[in-house]
Order: sequence, then C-alpha cells, then structure tokens
Amino acid sequence: GCLRSLAVDDGTPARPTDADDMRRLRDRIDDAGEDGPGGRPKYHLTPPANWLNDPNGLIRWDGRYHVFYQYNPGGPFHNTIHWGHAVSDDLVTWRDEPVALSPSPDGPDRDGCWSGCAVDDDGTPTLLYTGGNGRDQLPCLATTDDPDLRSWEKYEGNPVIESPPADLDVLETEHWRAEFRDHNVWREDGRWHHLVGTGLVDGGGAALLYTGETLTEWTYEGPLLAGGPDAGAVWECPELLDLGDRRLLHVSDYENVVYFLGTVEDGEFVVDSEGVLDHGDFYAPQSLSDSNRGAEDETDTERSLTWGWLPEARDVDAQWDAGWSGALSLPRVIETAPDGDLRQRPADEATDLRTERLADGETVALAPDDQRRLDVSGAAIEIEIEIALDDAEAVEISVFETPDRAEHTPIRYARDGTLSIDRTPSSRDPRAFADAQSMAVPPYDEPLSLRVFLDRSVIEIYANGRHCLTSRVYPTRDDAVGVSARAEGGRAEIASLSAWELGEAMPTDGD
Ligand code: FRU
Repeated sequence: GCLRSLAVDDGTPARPTDADDMRRLRDRIDDAGEDGPGGRPKYHLTPPANWLNDPNGLIRWDGRYHVFYQYNPGGPFHNTIHWGHAVSDDLVTWRDEPVALSPSPDGPDRDGCWSGCAVDDDGTPTLLYTGGNGRDQLPCLATTDDPDLRSWEKYEGNPVIESPPADLDVLETEHWRAEFRDHNVWREDGRWHHLVGTGLVDGGGAALLYTGETLTEWTYEGPLLAGGPDAGAVWECPELLDLGDRRLLHVSDYENVVYFLGTVEDGEFVVDSEGVLDHGDFYAPQSLSDSNRGAEDETDTERSLTWGWLPEARDVDAQWDAGWSGALSLPRVIETAPDGDLRQRPADEATDLRTERLADGETVALAPDDQRRLDVSGAAIEIEIEIALDDAEAVEISVFETPDRAEHTPIRYARDGTLSIDRTPSSRDPRAFADAQSMAVPPYDEPLSLRVFLDRSVIEIYANGRHCLTSRVYPTRDDAVGVSARAEGGRAEIASLSAWELGEAMPTDGD
C-alpha cells in the first residue's frame, strides 16, 4: 500500500505525542500490508512509522530496558532527527513511547538530535548526544527525574564542548565545519571517559578521548585510536566495551562496523586483532553495558547487549511507499572465546520469542544436486541448522521461497568456508538491492552451525556462534515462506534441523 501522506484525516498527527498516536501509526503500517513476507519485521524493533537509524541511549532503568533511536517523525527518510523511544520488561516485547528528544528551535541542537548515549550519573539518567546547528555538530546533555524516561530537560550550558580540539586537523566537509559527532561515555578510575567520532585531514577516521570530573566539563586527552588514511574518512559511533580480559573498540566507517580487540594503555588503544562485526546490513551499533545500567539494578550485571541498525536495502521510493524505514538487530551478547576470538549470539531471551515448534532436530540427507523442500516454512521464524558438507562442494539453504522458486534467497556455504547470500532472486521488485553479501566462516567447527532469524524483510545469521551476516530482502509474494536445501556436486547432510515460529515484539491493540 502507498502511505505517501501519513498526516491523513483519521486524526493521527505526523508528530505523535502519546501512546494512542503511536499505536495508530503502528497499526496503520501493518494494515497497509506490511505484515507479510518483505514487510516490516515482526519481532525486531522498528519505528511505529517513518524513519529509524542508529540505536541510542541504551539504558536499564527502574527494572526496564530502554532503547532510543534516531527517528524522523516527519517521514521515512533521514531528516530533522529526533530520538524515538521504546521500552521493554523482558527484551522480547516492546512498547512504543512518545518521542523523547526533539530539536529546540533556538538551541545548539536546532537541526537535529544526532547519536549519543545514556549514563547513570549518580542516580540521574543523563543523555549525551550530538546537537546539529548549521555547520556545527557538538555534544549536548539532557537529564531527567522521570522514572519512565519520557521527558528530558536539556542542560542550559549546552553544548558541553565548544569546538573540536584546536590542535587537531579535523576534516571539514561540505556539510560540516568539522566532522565531530557521536558520544560514548563511561566511568573509569573515578573519572568520566568520553569518545567522539571524527575524521582527520590526511589521517582517516579517529576516536577522540576526553575525560572529565563531571559530564559538563571535558578535557581532551588525544585520539584513543586513529585508523590512518586507508581506514575510512570518518569513524562514526565509536564505542569501547570491556570484555573482561580485553577491550573491544568498534567504529562505523560508512561501510562496515570494524572492531578492534586489544588493551588501553595510557589513553591509547593497542590493537591485537581486528575484524568486522557483521558482514551485511548492520551499522552504528550501541550497547547496554556497565556504564549505562542503572546503579540500583542488581540483575543483568554480567553481560553487555549490543543492538545495530539494520538499514533498508531498497531505494528511497520503496521506503516512501512502505511508510517506514529501518529496524534494529536482535540484542547481541558479544564476548571473547577461550581461543581469543570474538563470539556473538542473540541474548538468551530471544528464545522466549519462540511459539510453535516447526522442526525438532531432524536429520535430512541431501542427494547430489537435488532441490529438496524442507518441512519448515514461515516469514517470521528461527531456524537452527547443522550442515555437514560430506563430499559436496557447497550446500545452499533457500529461504523466503515461493513454491515456483520465482522468489527465493539462497544462503550458500561452500567448502572454502565462505558463507554468502545471493539477493538476485530475492525479490521481483526492481527497487530492492540485489548485491551479494558474504563472509568467511573458518571451518574449524564442522559441522557448520547456523542460527538463522527470518523476519519478513530481515535475515539475521549467526554462524558458529561467532560470525554474523544480516541481510535485508523484500520478497513481494505472500507465499514466499518456503525453505529448501540443495547439495552441490555431491552428497551432504543436514545433521540437525530445528525451527520455531516467533512471536510479535510490538503488539498493539489492533492485533
Ligand atoms: C550514523 C550516523 C551518526 C549520526 C547519526 C545521524 O548512522 O550518521 O554518525 O550521529 O547517524 O542520524
């Protein structure tokens, strides 16, 4: 359906302010046919309508999980960014909350409230976010005493840093006097620490470190890490996580989320190894960790949970017609394995989404080059599958498949350890992007073990509990719900196949 005008005459304003508005907005998108294959995800976090990008300000407060996100209430495109807000008791079902932060017409954030984080400042929930003002982007602070974190008060002394470091050659572009945005704040050694993303003339992306006694007075310490000229022009959304034995720094370099594992010595990050957090449509992740967990919370002190933005992989016309854009990944637990490698898995709570069981650890023999339909189907399901290649060259699992295979998306695992997604046959809609995506899955854990989350227009893959690839696809047909398998050039075996129907993350009264 076409939702070119959201401010239509059922009384729902384009800029919703209360829960009823939110519910109506959300229902309207589903009613427009966005609740089937290729539509708006069922159990991933999405905006009620309109535009979403980065997750922001993750915080656990008063026993609840709060997720804020970059939100344009004016339409499904990136402009005049506010902070959207959703809340959950269990990480499984979420409720839309009214917009949390809006640009102030005369403030240093008058053109947008861009990405930032939340911290617990000795009992006061506090946001540090990027204020856009003409050609400037500078950090702004807001606090609240509302336990529901709905209404925020902006600090009158904003911005809390007046300009980028004077002695640093920060990149100037057409839009910005200086690329200087996105804020990650944590407490360490009795002081606040603060990372800002930037780009250096001739130096590539960098994460700048500040420290302070308070959240309003900052001293520049130097770059925590600079990537050098080949590492991307700007590093957006830097975040430092404590994985116990080591630190993880990740940055988003316009294309990938690059991570570095290592240690911090005298304010500088010493890199042991690096990689890419997710090899698909995944960007600008942010985490709920020790630094933004309400101090009074005694639960959930061990892990950090990371959400990423799953951008659309279709053109702006298609997003405009859908009336919504962008989803968040499942919350992920990121940790290091005993061998030092990175591990990633969905939060354990993701299993609470399971409703009906569709397959229970079955074994399926795959004859050479025989396309075999599996006894599992759905547009919002989880598949857990173990694949042994035996003497085949590759195994292909096709998802979102129509009975005639006119639409299907093959996930292919080849003997050389490459896992790839071919989006050419995914959709008959020419506005959907069809480029292939792939990642290396070193075959040390044979058989290959996959958890695949299918959610209408999302394929979120965890391989061997380590490597992630998330892909956005847009099947057009209601019967694009089948799953099939094929072994290429030899025999292979699905050593174990389990699957579940998954429930709804953001139910409304209309459901
Ligand atoms: C990353 C990003 C951030 C910025 C925000 C604007 O996707 O570009 O650098 O703060 O989105 O919405």
